[in-house]
Amino acid sequence: MSGVFYGIGVGPGDPELLTVKAIHAMEHVDVLIAPKTEKKEGSVALSIAEPYLKKDIEIVYQVFPMVKDFADSTEAWEQNKEEILRLLQAGKNVAFLTLGDPMFYSTYIYVYRLLEHEDVKIETIPGIPAFTAIGSQLGYPIVEGNDVLSIIPATAEPEKIEQALQGADNVVLMKVYKNFPEIADILARHHMAKQAVMVSRCGLPDERRINDIEAHKEEPVNYLSTILSRKNVGESRRSE
Ligand SMILES: C[S@@+](CC[C@H](N)C(=O)[O-])C[C@H]1O[C@@H](n2cnc3c(N)ncnc32)[C@H](O)[C@@H]1O
Repeated sequence: MSGVFYGIGVGPGDPELLTVKAIHAMEHVDVLIAPKTEKKEGSVALSIAEPYLKKDIEIVYQVFPMVKDFADSTEAWEQNKEEILRLLQAGKNVAFLTLGDPMFYSTYIYVYRLLEHEDVKIETIPGIPAFTAIGSQLGYPIVEGNDVLSIIPATAEPEKIEQALQGADNVVLMKVYKNFPEIADILARHHMAKQAVMVSRCGLPDERRINDIEAHKEEPVNYLSTILSRKNVGESRRSE
């Protein structure tokens, strides 16, 4: 009998933020697919999940070359797919762990697309995305009432970022590590810099929080950093 392919969200960092379903699934996982990337997201996900994994779990490292469009996926992706299919056909349960939620800006989405049309049982288990964990931890409501939220990858084209900021009451900015000074300036132009808060490595031992992003804008920013901001501070202000 073929194994099951699991996509498991492990949350942003605190191992207590995994769901019961994720923990149960991990009890059945024989092989973990760990992406080999410079960003080390896979190894962070692995360390969060460590307490729940079988002691004799097999780890298979795969390189997933970055592609802008799934249609551009390369030979390496095909080889990864074949390797995963062989493991499943051998009756092993295979999992791919993701930080936060698997269907939210994750390499898992590409892996899922590779497998979705194959004769494979896939179970995707949601995880707590970083931005919601940050909101709860800081007492910073992400949206309330009729607020419109934009979730913006800071790696998007500047015009798209401008448009998203114009139309939103509240924003979540992700992947801010590459162009943090520009992002701080754009937020200031939209009167959203003062209310902004940036959390890096939420839930991990070296978590960092910055309230005054303009004062820190020349500092290097960790890859795992997210900014929350809003135009109207409203009744429920973030705790300082
Ligand atoms: C490729 S996306 C992965 C998002 C993830 N799937 C989620 O649901 O949060 C990477 C971005 O997620 C955010 N992120 C993920 N984990 C984080 C953490 N522990 N603390 C702060 N931001 C985090 C950062 O904005 C980072 O650049």
